[in-house]
Parts: sequence; C-alpha cells; structure tokens
Amino acid sequence: IEMRDAPRPKTALAPSLDLVVRPRRNRKSEWARRLVRENVLTADDLIWPLFVVDGHNKRTPVASMPGVDRLTVDQAVRDAERAMKLNIPCIALFPYTEPSLRDEFGSEATNADNLVCQSVRAIKKEFPNLGVLCDVALDPFTSHGHDGLIEDGKILNDETVAVLVRQALVQAEAGCDIIAPSDMMDGRVGAIREGLDAAGFLDVQIMSYAAKYASAFYGPFRDAIGSAKTLTGDKRTYQMDSANSDEALREVELDIAEGADMVMVKPGMPYLDIVRRVKDTFAMPTFVYQVSGEYAMIAAASGNGWIDGERAMMESLLGFKRAGADGILTYFAPQAAEKLKQQG
Ligand code: PBG
Repeated sequence: IEMRDAPRPKTALAPSLDLVVRPRRNRKSEWARRLVRENVLTADDLIWPLFVVDGHNKRTPVASMPGVDRLTVDQAVRDAERAMKLNIPCIALFPYTEPSLRDEFGSEATNADNLVCQSVRAIKKEFPNLGVLCDVALDPFTSHGHDGLIEDGKILNDETVAVLVRQALVQAEAGCDIIAPSDMMDGRVGAIREGLDAAGFLDVQIMSYAAKYASAFYGPFRDAIGSAKTLTGDKRTYQMDSANSDEALREVELDIAEGADMVMVKPGMPYLDIVRRVKDTFAMPTFVYQVSGEYAMIAAASGNGWIDGERAMMESLLGFKRAGADGILTYFAPQAAEKLKQQG
C-alpha cells in the first residue's frame, strides 16, 4: 500500500512509540524506494540459452519447460534477432542430437558440422555483434548421457579432456565467442586454454562452470536435449556434492589459475550463498545459471495461477544480482528483457 505524502489526518492518534529511527520512511513511495535501491537488473545481465534441433522452420515445445522450444537453425537465427532487439548481449547454444548420431564416445561433439557449429555460423553471419556461448561437455552426444568417456563404469578424466579440447576447437572455428566447459573434469580449463591459444584463438573467452553441483534441478534440461531417458546412473563422481561450500572455492580458484576469464555457479537459487562467497573471495566476473528446474518451478506455479509468474521471475533474477552475480543464464531472458524494456 502506497503511503501518500499528505499531512497526517487530524483523527490520527499521536505516535505512541518514541522512535528516532523509522526504516519505513525510506519506503514511503515509489520514488523514495527507487532512490535508495541497491541493486538493479538490466538486459546487460542476461544470457539466453537456446535449444537447437535438426530440421527446418520448426519450433517444438519442451514439455517440462512451458514457453521454451527446441529450434531448428533458421528459428535459432530468429531468436538471435530477438535477443539483439532486446539488447540481450549473449545467447548460449545447446543441441538436441538425433539418437542415431549418439555413440559411446560422443563423436558428434567434435564434428565441425554438428548442429551447434551450424547454428553458430548461421547466427554469427547475420548478427556478428551478438555474443555466442557454447557449452563444452559430451552429454548431448553420448548414448549413455554422461559428460565424459566411460570405461568399466568409470568416467575417464584425462581422456575426456582431450576430446573436450577438440570440441572447443570446432566451436571456436565456427565462430563461438565464449567456450563454457560444463563437464567438471579436472584440468579441462587449462587444457582448453592451451588448445585455443595454440590454434590462434587468443580472443575466445572461457566461462567455466566452476562450481557445478550434482543437482535434481537439471531434469527438464535433460528432457530438452534428450538425455533424460538414456542417462545411466548419476553424475556424482564429477559434479559437486550439494553439501559443500569450501570445495566450491577450491574449484573456482583452480579454474582461474588455469585461465578462466569468467566463472559460474550452477544451479542458482539453492546456491546463492556460493555466488556470494565466490564473488567476495575472487572478485572475478561471476555468473550464475538459473537452471531448467528452477525455470520449470516458476513457470508451472505461474501456469497454475499459484504465483504471479512475472513478479516471481523478476524477484528471482534480482536475487542473483543481490547475491553478487554479474550475469545470469536464464530461460526467462527474453521475458525479463521485454519487461525491463516496458519499464523503460
Ligand atoms: C551439460 C549441461 C547440463 C546443464 C547445462 N549443461 C546438464 C547436466 O549437467 O546434466 C543443465 C542446464 C539446465 O538444467 O538448465 N553438462
């Protein structure tokens, strides 16, 4: 309720509390609240993840992510155009790989003409000034849905890193601006940096998924990229234990030492404490991923009329800023940017 800046009505009782400090004074009206506002969200803070799929001129809804579609390359170019119009600085690309192209080794990841590379080329050709981020990990390409190579039921670290370097290289060759390793193998950031530099890609940035937790909130994403049904077991031998916080700082420290230009915490809302610790400790460009499950919760509750979806979206995004994030990967990016544009 707005308090009017009007004189106190004669009928009001005299103040009964002898308060010198009344914090509510700074909240008395919209202009007063704007004046003392500590954090703001702008379109500059947003990275918009897109799902791409083979085919032409088609958008297929992702059932568990209401409002999110899988896009054929031509449609991804249209969404890139929308990002440009909304002043969103960067998009992120994730592929749905045809089952026939998936194998044990994730071979399609290093195919220079895979869906991600095709999309990067098509988007950069039309919109060279839009930032394009590519995820590095094998899970969209493996028949078993894991981020790395497997032998005797174990995820192989160093062998996987060698493949990830090749994946990063085909993406950089296609024109990708930011390489974002999400695999959580040890040493991958350093190896990718070395590979990029040796190939002359000195300007290609690395945003590492530095503190990435083994999370239940990735469910809808695995649905979107088609790895939900095929994933055998879980990812706890490489993604972090959600009980840990000091370990996140060690992971981030390593990635910075190995050459990460930006670091990321993932998921978002259950890990705001990690965002704050990382930002305070390292003063690095710090990003947070509001993942598919977080999006799904807000979208579903909103769709059922249980919460005001737009307000919950903006509140959740502002929460990331308050926690210290410099930017947010979020499926809400276009809606949030539209809203910010309306507000002027
Ligand atoms: C792949 C990857 C995942 C996400 C981003 N990159 C899933 C996973 O690790 O299983 C999740 C994103 C989301 O849930 O929105 N390594």
